[in-house]
Amino acid sequence: MKKLLLSLFAVLLMPLFAVAQEALPLIPQPQNVALRAGAYKMPKKVVVYVPAYEDGSLQSVVDGFAAQLKHSFGIKVSNTAYPKRADLELRLNPNISDEGYRLEVEEDAIVLEASRPAGFFYGFQTLKQLMPAEILAGVKGEKKVRPEIPCVSIADEPLYGWRGFMLDEGRHFFGKEEVKRILDMMATYKMNRFHWHLTEDQGWRIEIKKYPKLTEVAAWRETKKLGWGSEYPTDGEHYGGFYTQEDVREIVAYAKERFIEILPEIDMPGHFQAALAAYPELSCTPNEKHEVWLHQGVSGDVMNVAAPEAIQFTKDVVDELTALFPFGYIHLGGDECPTHKWEHNALCQNRLKEIGSTNYRDLQTDFYKQIQDYILTKPQAEQRKLIFWNEMLHGNTSQLKDITVMAWIGADGAAKDAAQRGFDNILSPQIPYYINRRQSTDPNEPRSQGHGHETLERVYAYIPANGIDKELLPRYKGVQANFWTEYVFDNETLEYLTFPRLIAVAEAGWTVQARRDYKDFVVRLNQHVPFFELFKLSYGKHVVPVER
Ligand code: ACM
Repeated sequence: MKKLLLSLFAVLLMPLFAVAQEALPLIPQPQNVALRAGAYKMPKKVVVYVPAYEDGSLQSVVDGFAAQLKHSFGIKVSNTAYPKRADLELRLNPNISDEGYRLEVEEDAIVLEASRPAGFFYGFQTLKQLMPAEILAGVKGEKKVRPEIPCVSIADEPLYGWRGFMLDEGRHFFGKEEVKRILDMMATYKMNRFHWHLTEDQGWRIEIKKYPKLTEVAAWRETKKLGWGSEYPTDGEHYGGFYTQEDVREIVAYAKERFIEILPEIDMPGHFQAALAAYPELSCTPNEKHEVWLHQGVSGDVMNVAAPEAIQFTKDVVDELTALFPFGYIHLGGDECPTHKWEHNALCQNRLKEIGSTNYRDLQTDFYKQIQDYILTKPQAEQRKLIFWNEMLHGNTSQLKDITVMAWIGADGAAKDAAQRGFDNILSPQIPYYINRRQSTDPNEPRSQGHGHETLERVYAYIPANGIDKELLPRYKGVQANFWTEYVFDNETLEYLTFPRLIAVAEAGWTVQARRDYKDFVVRLNQHVPFFELFKLSYGKHVVPVER
């Protein structure tokens, strides 16, 4: 133990960016790594010491790791009440940040320190990346191998608290099993926010008990493929799907076990046409027929933000989301909302006068303010903070409190604007973090959004909050890759375009810039190929550029 204490001390004294870690297959790159000679050979039975922790949640993290060890390598894990008898000792250390950890591997024992279960979880994720790939893939090893873990000292913590991925299931619906695979991949790379884009012009994907037609009508359309104008005839397929509230609870629990919070998004007042097909009274033209949209682009058929029914609807939806999603945030969209329907609607015209504005965009912030005021009447535990796309900044935001701006278009400028207005931001720049775009110039790339492409290298090269003044930096909460599914409707293409680029974003969210290096990243990425293969991941093989 003394030796362990000494080497932990050594980690603390390590020059901030220690060398000699290049050979380790770790993604994201930890902040401090010191590799030594020798290895810990895992015994057939591992004895672990787990300190008491509030609600048993630390033991659950250990149980998760133990189940994986047993499944992949037949290794049994048992607890001891005596740290000195442990092969693997967990230690609580209040000086480590919430998601940080320290890992000390010696030839005779392993010590993992953290202050919170999340930190221990990430320490185990690191440990798993140092073992044979079966454990990451959740499959049985060929034979009962005894993993050898190199002797190493790691002191690690994330750069940002928000390391996210957004999936658009409004355009196309992928289902529970695919979402779980994505959550598994996110957890492997220490990502912690799954932004679930659940509604679009082309489909509504979540059961809301008070509004059953959302899933009877708005979740379905008469074609799978979406067209531009008359480019595609409809294919006649009765297409769609949705998550029941039970499904949502299952996925939220699955994510929680992996320390991932789920941010639900209900996109409004634009991108809302599917809901109008179910409830035309929420539109500016309640007597007209509205359909779940079969097309790509931005529909002009938007919610009537001045209609009392629309305000009540949004409050009711927020209530049901609050009951389903424990995360402290809800995303209410706000992007790409044409105002021409409002300009021709008497309710909207009157409301604009009432609020003393001539800018129709202000109707949107006025609407959101009413929703925020409603949320603020709830008991503390049921209050949720609101997140919006950065078009929000085009309206009068002064009446909104404590919102977060998700910056996508002109992202760097928008994020700075938000920070200067006193709002938090999340960087999800369209270029290069929209990883639904092609990932190379290869003519075999699947059809996807836009004419350009984003290589792995370009995604990796983006530097979050580059050159931002120190005083504004606390507003920069993190990074997020987004996946829009206009053209993508099968799981294979979804994974193919997502990976490996999402892993580059994971490293940008976790690792300080001085520790990021593309060439080194590619070497480590190639070390993960056996895991990708065992996990049966569809990924851009031709963009993992080192020969195998
Ligand atoms: C967006 O890409 N419309 C947020």
